[in-house]
Amino acid sequence: MGISGTGSVAGTARDGWSSRTAFILAAIGSAVGLGNLWRFPAEAGANGGGAFVVFYIGCVLLIGLPILLSETLIGRHGQASAPESVRRVALQSKASPAWGLLADLGVLGSFLILSFYCVVGGWVLYYVGIFAVDVVQSGPFGGAFESMSAEEIEALLPDLFANGPLMVGLDALFLGITLYFVAKGVSGGIEWVAKWMMPAFFVLLVAITIYSAVGGAFEETVAYLFTFEWDKLTGPVMLAALGQAFFSLSLGLACMITYGSYVGRSVNLAGTSTIVAGADTAVALIAGLCLFPIVFAAGLPANAGPGLMFQTLPHAFQSMPGGPLVGLLFFVMVAVAALTSSVSLLEPPVAWMIDRFRIVRPVSTGIVAAGAMVLGALSALSFNTMGWFHPLGFIPLFEGQGMFDVLDGLTAKLFMPIGAILTAIFVGWIADRRLVDSENGLGGILHLFWLLLVRFLCPLALLGILIAGLFPDLFGG
Ligand code: TRP
Repeated sequence: MGISGTGSVAGTARDGWSSRTAFILAAIGSAVGLGNLWRFPAEAGANGGGAFVVFYIGCVLLIGLPILLSETLIGRHGQASAPESVRRVALQSKASPAWGLLADLGVLGSFLILSFYCVVGGWVLYYVGIFAVDVVQSGPFGGAFESMSAEEIEALLPDLFANGPLMVGLDALFLGITLYFVAKGVSGGIEWVAKWMMPAFFVLLVAITIYSAVGGAFEETVAYLFTFEWDKLTGPVMLAALGQAFFSLSLGLACMITYGSYVGRSVNLAGTSTIVAGADTAVALIAGLCLFPIVFAAGLPANAGPGLMFQTLPHAFQSMPGGPLVGLLFFVMVAVAALTSSVSLLEPPVAWMIDRFRIVRPVSTGIVAAGAMVLGALSALSFNTMGWFHPLGFIPLFEGQGMFDVLDGLTAKLFMPIGAILTAIFVGWIADRRLVDSENGLGGILHLFWLLLVRFLCPLALLGILIAGLFPDLFGG
């Protein structure tokens, strides 16, 4: 079997993106998700606004983008599932195939994130549902949930948490939709969703942002997000920004290696990586400009963290004209973004299973999704009873945490930084230089700059988040 892209299941040509644009849309679809719409504004709000945002942009440019290029180039060269791609590059570089473990870890990490990402996807579907009901019951143009008190609106989320069967059902629904598209394959399923959903997403995002800028507290938002105050740039804020940049760009977990493996030879990876990172960052910033004006106009606080989108925002829609309709469109937009990301979390384990065990795609997809469903149900139920399920509770890092928090912490604090550090070392120091040079699409001074970042800055900065994540006390966080 050569490296030119044939035969992942014996005898059949390997599936792949039908064009460069398809790859860019799918990769943006992977990157743009709950991370941008839910996690970014929540993190920015909880970490003081401007300082976080500026540092975040620096992290994307200097650390995220070089790693994104590194991951896609491994995949494109390997033309196989992520672990197999790393092994092929290692063997051609006369290095140990054990480097493939970095992507095995990533495949496992993707699977773990998938399991709880779909739980949150289920919450989003729930909000789509309750806003749709509100549109029908009280018409699209008044305020949202007019007959409810602020406390009742904010209680919608804890009420959902208290309803275990409903949460598990919504998780299954979201996972089922994800499964459907991944089972249909790369060009026929994943690409199809990206091609239709991403343009729809952008239209909704722009429309709602204009609505929000006109009707909400836009100036206050701009001041909040872009006023840079040095003294707010503390250790925990920097780490939160770096972690967020990684999560948002889908890095460290074999996801972009897998997507890169479906890219044709003629595509310039440096160019596409820059477009993907740029679009992802733009969407995160626009999401801030879309959400905060509505929140500020209602006189609500920015620092509600995870509750910002699911509690503060629905409350804020109460005082906006057209609240029910815009709220509905907002959560539809979030659902669309989450779906194009969840397919990218399901694909790495599926591709691995197809490669490793020669099991056909629909069956592989079903097996992985079934596993994610079991773990997801445990996550969902860990909210219900406030974390009765403490699988790793004996480890100090996870003391007293439910399944959801354990999986979130495990992936964000261990898997992602470790995967990314190993990727940087592998591409920067281990892989054959000619191989890397011929794949990365960079020339001259830019190439040198990229190499310096991948060799030195990326591993060191990432080691920083790893240590800080494991020993928060060191950083006063
Ligand atoms: N980037 C996605 C988001 O912002 C989430 C995601 C998809 C992801 N694939 C990933 C995160 C791989 C880490 C690794 O919502």
